[in-house]
Amino acid sequence: MIISGSASQVLAAELAAELDEPLASVEYDRFPDGELLASAPGVAEAETDRAIVVASTVSSDAHLELLQLQDAAREWGAAEVVTVLPYMGYARQDDAFESGHPVSARAVARAISPGADRVLTVNPHEESVCGFFEVPAEPLDAAGRLADPLPADLDDPVFLSPDEGALDIATAARDAYGRGAVDYFEKTRLSGTEVEMTPSDAAVSGRDVVVTDDIIATGSTMSEAVALLRERAAARVFVTCVHPMLAADAYAKLSRAGVEAIYGTDTIERPASEVSVAPVVADALR
Ligand code: R5P
Repeated sequence: MIISGSASQVLAAELAAELDEPLASVEYDRFPDGELLASAPGVAEAETDRAIVVASTVSSDAHLELLQLQDAAREWGAAEVVTVLPYMGYARQDDAFESGHPVSARAVARAISPGADRVLTVNPHEESVCGFFEVPAEPLDAAGRLADPLPADLDDPVFLSPDEGALDIATAARDAYGRGAVDYFEKTRLSGTEVEMTPSDAAVSGRDVVVTDDIIATGSTMSEAVALLRERAAARVFVTCVHPMLAADAYAKLSRAGVEAIYGTDTIERPASEVSVAPVVADALR
């Protein structure tokens, strides 16, 4: 039985089809005092004893919904509760970056753990966050899926990551596409919305470039990379990522920067979510 958080309904439906498992009917309600109530009224009749709760924790409400749906699955008596975090919120806060700061990724992992027997999460910013859970937790890699929406006629393509940390994503996308070079820029983050980028000697002039990253949040990283590519006379520039958070004006920012297309997966449901990670999640659950 697949039970979906409100932010992951499309992926949950895809996953149910992939696994040929029933998709629970879920009700999302709010009390007059603002408290949430996410419930799955029909689960007790399910003819399966595994509950798969699929919920991207894209907001504080989404975190709460997840905890409630895990608890509802336990109440129903599921023998195993698997929690799928297509996108794990707070994962990038994986350290106490200043004195007095919490390790937020650890705090949320500890909150999620008692309701789960097993956790799966797609391309967390650092795989080490899986170690914060108190139950077995595995990172899943959907980077190969990023090649799917790319046009077949890319001209002498370069798959470029905006920093060295995302190089494996660029490499996986290139390998799945089947041809092209791989390179990366050096990035220094100046603030939450500002980054500085140092170009490598990547030869991009006249070539199509696919910039790949784990997440587009404010779009600052990608737009800085696109501006450099424009200076260096790249031909078409596509941007693609696993998690298309696209907060605030990120989509418009990238469109204004002249990118050919913006692609992402359905770990976060946005207009750019062209690719489903359902096959990757399903493989881990079979
Ligand atoms: C950081 O290293 C990540 O891989 C992303 O590059 C970053 O989080 C994207 O954030 P933004 O879109 O706000 O620049």
